[in-house]
Amino acid sequence: MYTPLLRMDSLENKKEPTKFGLHLRNKHRQSYDFELLVKNHPPLKPFISINKYGNESISFFDNQAVLALNKALLITYYGIKEWDIPKGYLCPPIPGRADYIHQVADLLAQSNNGKVPTGKNIHCLDIGVGANCIYPIIGNSEYHWSFVGADINETAIKNSNSILKANPNLNRFVSCRFQKDSSKIFAGIIENQEYFDLTICNPPFHASEKEALGGTTRKLRNLKGKQDVKPQLNFGGQAPELWTDGGERKFVIRMIKQSKAFKKKCFWFTTLVSKEANLKAIYSVLKQVNATDVTTIPMTHGNKKSRVVAWTFLTESERQNWVRKYWR
Ligand SMILES: C[S@@+](CC[C@H](N)C(=O)[O-])C[C@H]1O[C@@H](n2cnc3c(N)ncnc32)[C@H](O)[C@@H]1O
Repeated sequence: MYTPLLRMDSLENKKEPTKFGLHLRNKHRQSYDFELLVKNHPPLKPFISINKYGNESISFFDNQAVLALNKALLITYYGIKEWDIPKGYLCPPIPGRADYIHQVADLLAQSNNGKVPTGKNIHCLDIGVGANCIYPIIGNSEYHWSFVGADINETAIKNSNSILKANPNLNRFVSCRFQKDSSKIFAGIIENQEYFDLTICNPPFHASEKEALGGTTRKLRNLKGKQDVKPQLNFGGQAPELWTDGGERKFVIRMIKQSKAFKKKCFWFTTLVSKEANLKAIYSVLKQVNATDVTTIPMTHGNKKSRVVAWTFLTESERQNWVRKYWR
């Protein structure tokens, strides 16, 4: 899966298509088992109806229904007791978030004789943990990894901390840190003696609040199949979570440039890149900073295509030493 920098033109890896395009270990490859979900979270029941294909489903443009589904999924599959988000904050589609975790688990496995390294000694840094704390929840539940979640949004950090407090099993392995300087990604978060096996990030992708509203409208339109939908910021994320000056491209480029200062402190840096058009500029910066290895992992969920871009500054032999030192 490693792709050397020289082969930038073919960085999109080819993969076998799977059902719904999800990773083989993703727990959401089959249709939702609503009977089980309702058993574990009865408040989901009133939101279930029969869709036009004759199957049980919920309305995905009803915030309360999506929230109830997420709670049921987290309780059923990820050992969560209580989970909530402040009104208007990003309610994450869980199957897609789980896919990122499984894909980067495979990336680590490549340095570990094909076996995913598990346990609290695997340290992950989630840049932009949000109010939902979703990646630490899934990563800890699936692989028992420990996490630091960082965010520039105080409400997000406060809420993620409430989730941790309400879930003592998770609280032991996850901590959240407020990033005081929004221009910084790793500085002010990674402490002197710390190292991370993995950094992950779902970056804010829109360049402006207006663009974020447009994206929300498009999402609603796709779901409703209609033109007459009004933009609502409270569907699928609050404006500050979804946009950043310069959008995804500028954010990821900033992250890559700043990662160089932490090049021996992180095994793999990774980020989601939702816009394919941003890849060229991203690869060019990865070349400028002299990343040793770069790989792009395609992800498909339904008709949505995305990808994880991963880079490291460690050589093969440094990686082997790292594994011996920290994972064994
Ligand atoms: C798209 S949201 C992702 C939230 C969550 N991880 C998810 O996947 O649902 C992006 C998050 O990045 C945060 N963010 C923006 N700039 C940041 C920075 N410099 N450092 C850390 N987090 C940042 C935003 O506040 C927001 O919570």
